[in-house]
Amino acid sequence: MNDSGQPFDDVLARLMERQAKDPATHGGRLFGLTYPTGRSDIEELITAVNRQYLFGNALNPFRFPELAALETEVVESVSSMLHRPPGTFQAGTMTSGGTESILLAMLVHRERARARGIERPQIVAPRSAHPAYAKAAHYFDLDLVQVPLDGQWRADVDATRAAVSERTAVVVASAFSYPHGVMDPVEELAAIAAQAGAGCHVDACIGGFVLPFLERLGREVPPFDFRVPGVTSISADVHKYGYVPKGASVVLHRDDDWFSHQVFLYDRWGSGTYGSGAIAGARPASPIACSWAVISYLGANGYTEIMGQLMEVVAKVRAAVEAIAGLEIVGEPIGPVLALRSDVVDLYAVGDEMDARGWHLNRNTEPRGLHLMLSPAHAGVVDRLLDDLAQAVALGGESRGGEARYS
Ligand SMILES: Cc1ncc(COP(=O)(O)O)c(C=O)c1O
Repeated sequence: MNDSGQPFDDVLARLMERQAKDPATHGGRLFGLTYPTGRSDIEELITAVNRQYLFGNALNPFRFPELAALETEVVESVSSMLHRPPGTFQAGTMTSGGTESILLAMLVHRERARARGIERPQIVAPRSAHPAYAKAAHYFDLDLVQVPLDGQWRADVDATRAAVSERTAVVVASAFSYPHGVMDPVEELAAIAAQAGAGCHVDACIGGFVLPFLERLGREVPPFDFRVPGVTSISADVHKYGYVPKGASVVLHRDDDWFSHQVFLYDRWGSGTYGSGAIAGARPASPIACSWAVISYLGANGYTEIMGQLMEVVAKVRAAVEAIAGLEIVGEPIGPVLALRSDVVDLYAVGDEMDARGWHLNRNTEPRGLHLMLSPAHAGVVDRLLDDLAQAVALGGESRGGEARYS
């Protein structure tokens, strides 16, 4: 820190200069880290709400009761969207993102397993599950048992059955997975879990704000939410396809009493009872207010309309990829997340060339290939993207060493 502060305009100018060195968040050239809609009305709403709510704190619901009510309403909206059976109180919270929602769900399942006398509980999760489950195992003294995928890159049902033991606290199903965008067989996995007396967590971090609207569009969506018996918790991120800036996810539990395991209460210090439903203590108000605002503004019809437009982009990309000799889509992706593979082209070389052309595609390792997470704003650049992809494939060559790194 300098002794003397710097002029307002200089500080801003320096920040702008530094921000310009990172990829633009709006141009549709970034995949997976941001979810641009290309809709100025939504962005204006978010900007206005942010300005209003920048300094709030969601830690203490007694001090900010109206903010707490907004959070409850967001949780209620997501609960009804995912068909949580009506309970006596709100068995869920907003969190900072998918990872925190998953950590909390794993913690609750651990506590439930410990109550059944299991000392070191296990998470059984497919190989394609997000690293957040490994993080939960690391943080909460759990064992992670990885289950291989089937020929369609879904969790293998027989391997899951074989992996579940009396120590299993929770079986994880992705709806849908990050690496390949495919649905795990939620019904089968939840039944295996229930039979073993374990819970089943559905990772709908990406799919939570996609699948309900695909269903409304009349597309076939395999059952994945609380309508499936045996599903005990679900995570759904508002900051992905809910189109709210980062810091917004929801974790839900089927049963009211499960939620109590998520809440931390403490009074052995000098400032009274401290209670917190999520991992963070102080929590920003903006993600809550933005979630409430965008959900209220778009409603189910607005989200469905955006999803319809997005799926047109997805169809265009799929058709173009399938028309490029040697390129394949991995598995049967249900929505806007696609993985590409090839037996004849080095797709990391293609990724390098795409990087050079300003498209920041992520790399997959299993199978080696490219990862495309499409957002509504890609509608404006899809033709250019597909031209560049075809040219990059035609160029061929070897990888210049662009690493396979998640996001
Ligand atoms: C399926 C899935 N689960 C969980 C997460 C973690 O979400 P976050 O990055 O918001 O913590 C992601 C992130 O991409 C994901 O794709």
